[in-house]
Amino acid sequence: MQKLKITAIVGSLRKSSLNRQLALQAKNVIADRADFSILDYCEIPLLNQDYEYPAPLSVSNAREIVTSSDGIWFFVAEYNHFLPGCLKNLIDWLSRPISDNEPQVLSGKPAAISGITPGITGTALAQDNLVTLISFLNMKVMNRPRLLIPNAFSSVNSDGELVLSDIAAPVLDSQVDDFLRFIKGTAQ
Ligand code: FNR
Repeated sequence: MQKLKITAIVGSLRKSSLNRQLALQAKNVIADRADFSILDYCEIPLLNQDYEYPAPLSVSNAREIVTSSDGIWFFVAEYNHFLPGCLKNLIDWLSRPISDNEPQVLSGKPAAISGITPGITGTALAQDNLVTLISFLNMKVMNRPRLLIPNAFSSVNSDGELVLSDIAAPVLDSQVDDFLRFIKGTAQ
C-alpha cells in the first residue's frame, strides 16, 4: 500500500520559527509511517484579483502539493490573537477555484492543527480562527487532539532548540496516531 502523504503548513515564515521546529518534531514522531514535508510558500505574493488568473507558479505549485496530499497539518503561530497574515493569504489563494472547471483544492482534505507561542494562550485563539476559516472551506478538521503549547521559552534550550515538555510530547505522539487514523477513516 502507498504511504500516506502529509503536508505541513507552518503559519510563520521565519527560519527559526518555533512552529516550524514543532512541525519537524512531528515529522520525527511520524518517522516512516507517512511521508511528511513542510510546504514552502515564501514566494507566494499577496492575493490581488487583478493578477489571479493565470495563477503565479508559486501558487500552482502549492495547489499541486495540497492536491496530492492525504492530509494537511497546520502549525499556527498567533499574531494579535489571530492567525498570521501570511497563512491567511496562502489559504485565500488555495480557496479559489483553479479554473472554471477545477474547484479549490482544500475541500474534503483532512486537517490537523497544532501551535506554540511564548504567550499564555498557546495559540488557542489563532487555532479557533483557523478552524472557522478552514471549516468554511469544507476541510475535514480533526478537533481532538489539538496541541497547544504556551510559555514556549520554557521549552527552548540554550541553543534555541525546542525540547518538548513531558506534558506536550505525549500529546504530539497521540496527535500523530490520531491524525493517521483520521486520514484513513475519512478516506473510506
Ligand atoms: C506576536 N506574538 C503573539 N503571541 C501570542 O501568544 N499571542 C499573540 O496575540 C501574539 N501577537 C503577536 C503579534 C505579532 C505581530 C507578532 C510578530 C508576534 C508572539 C509570537 O507568538 C511569537 O513571536 C512566536 O514565536 C511566533 O511563532 P514562530 O515564528 O516562533 O513560529
